[in-house]
Order: sequence, then structure tokens, then C-alpha cells
Amino acid sequence: MDTVGFRQCLGMFATGVTVVTCTDEAGQACGVTANSFSSVSLEPPLVLWNIAKVTRSLSAYLGAEHFAINVLSAEQKDISKHFAKSETNIFADVEHRVNDDKVPLIPNALAHLECRTDQVHDCGDHHIIVGEVISYRKTDGAPLLFFGGGYQNIA
Ligand SMILES: Cc1cc2nc3c(=O)[nH]c(=O)nc-3n(C[C@H](O)[C@H](O)[C@H](O)COP(=O)(O)O)c2cc1C
Repeated sequence: MDTVGFRQCLGMFATGVTVVTCTDEAGQACGVTANSFSSVSLEPPLVLWNIAKVTRSLSAYLGAEHFAINVLSAEQKDISKHFAKSETNIFADVEHRVNDDKVPLIPNALAHLECRTDQVHDCGDHHIIVGEVISYRKTDGAPLLFFGGGYQNIA
């Protein structure tokens, strides 16, 4: 399989952009930019995302009882770029609040979905993480979009 071509083909599917957050075993806040987020079920309320096995904070997400999906707005491209970087202590200079389950939440996100980890599936070079949504909230605004390997705004 031509991996580059396959990736480019998958990039024809336009998505929103999220930052998925949790806290690791040592209590450090983790965040990863992810566009693999998808809704799964309304009853029970389930969502999923996929994490690459090479991700530095993989063990934090696999072991986390709770995580959050922060859906980014059109104004949060810099946040998306920041959380796509490979850095220790990625939240060091990022404004955030922490929920009752010690999960960091990014202010001004279009939506927050606070989740309890429900299932983890080993799948190729990723794990699929399924979360039960225990709390959610949304605001109005334009989303950050990802399409064709780049950031886009709604025209
Ligand atoms: C728009 C966009 C979407 C991404 N989606 C995912 C994703 O769904 N799952 C994932 O594991 N990595 C995804 N990444 C890559 C991660 O954000 C990036 O590899 C990670 O933050 C780097 O962490 P590490 O180097 O500390 O392992 C995406 C990156 C971008 C820019």
C-alpha cells in the first residue's frame, strides 16, 4: 500500500479538530490534537477517537479513567498546532481549568465532552478509545476544520 497516497485519500474527508485531554499517572496534564473524533451512540452516549501507538502520552490515555474532547473553534488554530507538537509538560503555558475528575479543559472551545473511558480496542497502529459522555456543553461559533492536510474555515 502506498501510505502517502492512502493518507492523501483519507484527507479528502473534512473533519473538525479536537484536543483530547487527560491526566497521566503522575498527575501531569496531557493533550493531543485529534481529528479522529466521532460520535458513536446516543443511548448510551458514546463517542470515540483514535490514538497512534507512537504517541508519547499513549499510556496516560490507555490508563485514564476520564478524558475530555475539546472541540476547537475557528479562532483556535494555534491551540491545534500546539497540541500536535511533541513536548513534555504540554500544558505549561496553556490557559486551562481542571474538572472534578482532574481532566484539563481548554477555554473557549466550541464544545466540551467530558467522558469516562468505556472501551479500548487495539486496532493496527492505533488504539480506538471509546468514552461514555458524562457531561457536555456547547457554545455557538465557527469550527476549525481540517481538509486535504491543512486547516480550513467554513467559506
Ligand atoms: C489536525 C490533526 C489531527 C490529528 N489527529 C490525530 C488523531 O486523531 N490521533 C492521533 O493519535 N494523532 C493525531 N494527530 C497527531 C497528534 O496531534 C501528534 O502526533 C501528537 O500530539 C504528538 O504527540 P507526541 O509526539 O508527544 O507523541 C493529529 C494532528 C493534527 C495536526
